[in-house]
Amino acid sequence: LEPAVFQQRLLAWYDRAGRHDLPWQRQRTPYRVWVSEIMLQQTQVTTVIPYFERFMARFPTLEALAEATQDEVLHLWTGLGYYARGRNLHKAARQVVAEHGGELPVASLEAMAELPGIGRSTAGAIIAQSTGQRAVILDGNVKRSLARLHAVAGWPGRPAVERELWALAEHYAPERRVADYTQAVMDLGATLCRRGTPECSRCPFADVCVAHARGEERRFPESKPK
Ligand code: ADE
Repeated sequence: LEPAVFQQRLLAWYDRAGRHDLPWQRQRTPYRVWVSEIMLQQTQVTTVIPYFERFMARFPTLEALAEATQDEVLHLWTGLGYYARGRNLHKAARQVVAEHGGELPVASLEAMAELPGIGRSTAGAIIAQSTGQRAVILDGNVKRSLARLHAVAGWPGRPAVERELWALAEHYAPERRVADYTQAVMDLGATLCRRGTPECSRCPFADVCVAHARGEERRFPESKPK
């Protein structure tokens, strides 16, 4: 599929049906986007929202977070689960103060990905949403959508499969409307191209999706071999 066609269809769907008033979309600063992306790594948007609001009220800046104790940070994390995320967030804030003068290094994907808790995809998501610089993302939602669209066989944990999915994500990533595209591609996987039963009747790619043409949406992505 032509990248321009993919982008147009995705953004037209997003303009109509995507989420536009999430708290971290209001002031898209690197700090706010970072905290939201860490919270969203294993937790759904509706659950994250009140935690995000309380976190920002208590730690409005990265400096405030760096100055807190780990106990205070974990206290605000209570109920979100996956507490390593909270510990890493706190550790990373201190590292940013020590090594980057208190500013997240959003000009560099490599520097971002060196911070605790931030992998290649999360680094891309933060950069794309807070700076508008082109950056590629490939989280679980995006992997699932791309694996279905192109019927990419194999378990995405295999390096060859993961490489293929990154190449597709790279192929489709736009130069313009980068922040919207990033939210849109994650929303597509989270709200339509869901695990289990996707809502293909509302999907802007139903007519070009290889898995859908074969009636095999549920086969992709393949699960870990036993
Ligand atoms: N998962 C990770 N980041 C997300 C985002 N910005 N929106 C929805 N789901 C996400």
